[in-house]
Amino acid sequence: MKTIDYRDLGLVNTKAMFQRAMREQFAVPAYNFNNMEQLQAIIIGCAQSASPVIVQVSGSARTYIGTAFLPHMAAAAVDLARESGLAIPIALHLDHGSSFELAKECIDSGFSSVMIDASHHSFEENAALTRQVVEYAHAREVTVEAELGVLAGIEDEVSAEHSSYTRPEEVERFLELTGVDSLAISIGTSHGAYKFKLQPGQEPPPLRFDILEEIERRVPDFPIVLHGASSVTQTHVAMINRYGGKMDNATGIPEEQLRRAAASAVCKVNIDSDGRLAMTAVIRKIFAEKPDEFDPRKYLGPARDELIAMVMHKNNAVLGSAGRIRA
Ligand code: G3H
Ligand code: 13P
Ligand code: ZN
Repeated sequence: MKTIDYRDLGLVNTKAMFQRAMREQFAVPAYNFNNMEQLQAIIIGCAQSASPVIVQVSGSARTYIGTAFLPHMAAAAVDLARESGLAIPIALHLDHGSSFELAKECIDSGFSSVMIDASHHSFEENAALTRQVVEYAHAREVTVEAELGVLAGIEDEVSAEHSSYTRPEEVERFLELTGVDSLAISIGTSHGAYKFKLQPGQEPPPLRFDILEEIERRVPDFPIVLHGASSVTQTHVAMINRYGGKMDNATGIPEEQLRRAAASAVCKVNIDSDGRLAMTAVIRKIFAEKPDEFDPRKYLGPARDELIAMVMHKNNAVLGSAGRIRA
């Protein structure tokens, strides 16, 4: 297949985004997408709130979309932002890359940033694989994210039953060995829409900010990434349950904790489940209220609008990324 340089698609890597996020104490949103409507919503929401954005796909999302489609969608996303009013910085990122080969394929086909997730391997194996990806990526000015510590929940082809928090004492050595650009850490978040088992009325336990602060102390100004950061918006969960769904006890990370994280060394916040919930809630409502509707535009369109609103809310009121585009 022909090699594609991300710069020819109008994309940027994450370097300048993270420098600014660190300096100005906000976090760049990293939204997952699987289809055209999701990507359009993310770009329109970010352009309308003047926010930089990382659009990301897991390995299986990339397969679902199709490798031939992705670079064209990314180029179209850049154009859409301009048409929506603002040429925002857009990075295309591989989420939870599971092998060197996958990372290389993505780099060669127009991604500007990749994650290599070897966090479930030993420290040495994780560092060695990360180093291999960094060497290939940096030769092409592609940025690399790695992970230390394990989040609970399903991570694409990388799955973990139980979490183990990141050990701050391992971070400096990992960065020295790998030369990676950003690091995902485990401080109590997890993937999916069921992050905590709570009794009625019980609040989610706070994130382990003590671990984050110790990491910040050991590696000042190094960009940290927070995975599993959906808030699992209860209005969407309630809509889903009201209109025929069944998502009992779905819980996420309170926005207040994400605001605190965004003001720290956390420069990238990953959100997938909240986008899924927003679209599903609207589609369920339309199907329940208009059982004769069968034009996809009549339910995917409103679902896209709901996702635009969600993205703008996150950028404006949670991550602080709105308005951070240099004039
Ligand atoms: O962290 C995982 C993301 O939410 C991607 O999920 O593997 O179902 O695409 P996926
Ligand atoms: P959520 O499931 O909390 O949205 O996490 C998404 C994520 O971390 C993608 O890598
Ligand atoms: Zn993740």
